[in-house]
Amino acid sequence: MNNLFSPLKIRGSELKNRLVVSPMCQYSGKDGFANEYHLVHYGSRAMGGAGAIIAEATAVCPEGRISINDLGLWSDEHIPYLLTITEFISKQGSVPGVQLAHAGRKASHAAPWSGDRLLTVSEGGWQPVAPSAIAFSADMAIPEALSLEGIAKVRQDFVSAAKRAVDAGFRILEIHAAHGYLLNEFLSPLSNKRNDEYGGQFENRIRLLTEIVRGIRKNIPEDHLLFVRISSTEWVDNGWSLNDSVALVKILKDMGVDLIDCSSGGNITGVTISPEPGYQVPFADTIRKETGILTGAVGLITTAVQAQSIIDQGQADIILMGREFLRDPYFPLNAAAGLGQDNTWPKQYLRAKKKW
Ligand SMILES: Cc1cc2nc3c(=O)[nH]c(=O)nc-3n(C[C@H](O)[C@H](O)[C@H](O)COP(=O)(O)O)c2cc1C
Repeated sequence: MNNLFSPLKIRGSELKNRLVVSPMCQYSGKDGFANEYHLVHYGSRAMGGAGAIIAEATAVCPEGRISINDLGLWSDEHIPYLLTITEFISKQGSVPGVQLAHAGRKASHAAPWSGDRLLTVSEGGWQPVAPSAIAFSADMAIPEALSLEGIAKVRQDFVSAAKRAVDAGFRILEIHAAHGYLLNEFLSPLSNKRNDEYGGQFENRIRLLTEIVRGIRKNIPEDHLLFVRISSTEWVDNGWSLNDSVALVKILKDMGVDLIDCSSGGNITGVTISPEPGYQVPFADTIRKETGILTGAVGLITTAVQAQSIIDQGQADIILMGREFLRDPYFPLNAAAGLGQDNTWPKQYLRAKKKW
């Protein structure tokens, strides 16, 4: 039986345990560049014993940033500092990953602590793009609908960023197709009203994502891992559903995607969600059972016992934790001790492993 602290081998990498840092924007870069903040932030969680770390939504092109402080991989110049970070993570025995993202109609925004509002042009804001010219909400920008040339550029931007991510030492590449960002906007019939081959029926709405997956898989080494984060449901009857997710994942699995990171929501306003502990776990469970792919569970998973039981019951293969990892970078070390399991401690910290 699998255990929270049993290793997971996928292609050329082994996660030493199933606790993974969920991608979380830190809004602390400049012009896409990472800096010491990111080294310490990700480095601490690697020292804390995470099996893998998926670094925050990292823009594949400047207009794909959420804010001006997002990380980016649209230039080769972004590679060297990211390499410093991934080398440190790897030396601590954790597997470095990165989330490749395009913010679509949610782009050009201020960081949450600066008011979470649209940026003006004088603040460095820009015109967001999307499948259709439909704003996310009344206080957000009306995006420009992408032309076919624009879509081709997005596809190429994802593939180029993926190649740079490999050069920057990341072993896991996660495509962000969730939370109402560009690729999610294409998937949903509520945000995608196109009349061409990228809109309308299911096969057309998934086209951009599947083209990107195919392009990336073809251009990265065989031993690198490819994850996709999806919003498993939009939580409304006429939107993207769990059945749509299952149908999509069957196709992605055949294209060489290794794991689906099962989140939900974020593409439309006005839906009622009642987040409670583990509320998205059933999505990881259903997608895993219906398609046979590896899945990640995420969302309000905060205790070792809860995480252990999800893995024990075969509901998911990894546990992605967000906010709990912000509260406690050493969660995996403490969780292992609490469950009577082992985890590798940094040798410099070994004297603290035993309480007495
Ligand atoms: C500060 C912060 C930043 C986030 N940024 C991202 C992101 O870059 N990409 C993403 O897919 N999800 C992002 N999320 C969502 C988390 O990855 C995670 O799915 C969510 O917080 C639920 O998990 P939790 O209950 O363990 O925090 C972010 C969440 C937080 C709290």
